[in-house]
Amino acid sequence: MKILPETSRTLSEYLLLPGLTTEDCTPDNVDLRAPLVRHRAGEESWIRIATPMVSAIMQAVSSPTLAVALAQVGGLAFIHQNQRIDNQAADVLAVKRHKAGFRTSKVAVAPQTQLGVVARQLTGIEHGVAVVTETGAADGTFLGIIGLDDFHLERHVSETAGSRMRGRDGLVTAPSSVSLSDANELLWNHHQDVLPVIEDGRVVSLVLKRDYQAHKAFHHASVDSKKRLRVGAGINSRDFKDRIPALVEAGADVLCLDSSDGYSVYQAKVLEFAQEKYGDDVFVGAGNVVDGRAFRYLAEAGAAFVKVGIGGGAICTTREQKGIGRGQASALLDVVQARDAYAQETGVYVPLACDGGLLNDSHMALALAMGADVIMLGRYFARLDESPSRKLQIGGQWYKEYWGEGSRRAQNAARYGQRGQMLFEEGVDGYVPYAGSLYDNVERTRAKLTATMISCGSTNLRDFHRDAVLVEVSAESFKQTGAEIQVRRPAFDTAE
Ligand code: IMP
Repeated sequence: MKILPETSRTLSEYLLLPGLTTEDCTPDNVDLRAPLVRHRAGEESWIRIATPMVSAIMQAVSSPTLAVALAQVGGLAFIHQNQRIDNQAADVLAVKRHKAGFRTSKVAVAPQTQLGVVARQLTGIEHGVAVVTETGAADGTFLGIIGLDDFHLERHVSETAGSRMRGRDGLVTAPSSVSLSDANELLWNHHQDVLPVIEDGRVVSLVLKRDYQAHKAFHHASVDSKKRLRVGAGINSRDFKDRIPALVEAGADVLCLDSSDGYSVYQAKVLEFAQEKYGDDVFVGAGNVVDGRAFRYLAEAGAAFVKVGIGGGAICTTREQKGIGRGQASALLDVVQARDAYAQETGVYVPLACDGGLLNDSHMALALAMGADVIMLGRYFARLDESPSRKLQIGGQWYKEYWGEGSRRAQNAARYGQRGQMLFEEGVDGYVPYAGSLYDNVERTRAKLTATMISCGSTNLRDFHRDAVLVEVSAESFKQTGAEIQVRRPAFDTAE
């Protein structure tokens, strides 16, 4: 037995000191691009993402809808592996069918749906357009589109979608082979604000003139060489010989071993299999780890990137159940040191994903400053419209469901190594406050990360890693953060 001469520390126990902000440090100059897979140190990674945020490999988080939205804003989702191989491959394929600048139609209704219902369904949907299909299912035969501008919220509530929709006969549509610039050309030439993209009579996506005009045509989208959105997929160390080929065939850009403890020969075996079968054509990340030894083991076994974090996840009870884990800051700092030493010795840079327990945007800034390349988030994305879980109201407040992969509800035996009947849980099943659209949230988070980097005098993540100065926070400082201020609430403030 050995006891490390350190205290296990979490991210909230640190703060960043401002660095010199120069004229170069403007929001337009800040580049948040991050490498995702191993590469020669000092060179560019084969896969880089413009927004250093990836989604957790979880049922309650990473659906195709979320994956499309996240890739559009420059991040990357990992479709979860806690499902049949053919279903996971179909999810990957569904994302790969999307090209940058094309949106998914989130609301589908039948022609007989009342406009009052349509209006309710469109509330909070950023693009405000519903697709009308024969059956009302998203994959039903396309009949037309209806947006909030097509009817009066009071006058037309009891009329039907079919009576006020813009029918397919009067609309210009495009096949799924259309390029983004041709789609925009069509919108302008035909005075349309929405272009439905149709395959076999069904809508696969929408192109909005507003996106183009507002310069929101996802200029940082994560795309492959054919402009298809990028997507990752989780794998496990049990059925990998079947799962990896199916995911590769479906077009997954990067794979990641999904395990609560990645320091194992089983992970090395999976990495060896992928290496033997695909050489450098397939990237497989590994983890999770919390120290330099485990990082080196996985890096030497060929991991494309390594995930850091055990026990910090919002829904995680691993530390209580098994006594395993490490504060996220201590884990990250140790692994960063090992990654930099490995890069110096071998010339190979293996990116790190900081995974779990990031409770707010400042934690992301701290993790990036400490040396993480990307941040993996579960709770953050679970709260949003695009996550697959149910949205529900409890006591007047909106929530979304969020459950851990180690909870009884997820039954993720491959991740947690339990066989047969589940004897104990490592995660909880609960709710998180609903937080709106992914597009708005990621834009805000990007703005905050940019502002932090400007304060610290860095315009890219490599400089931020090198130049960031951090300091530990005392318990007394924590107390000061919780100053006694009654937050003003306009509803109760008569001066408002
Ligand atoms: P969050 O961002 O704090 O919600 O943490 C998400 C991360 O928690 C995931 O990426 C996993 O690494 C981890 N995780 C997911 N499910 C469980 C669980 O049931 N128990 C422990 N950790 C989990």
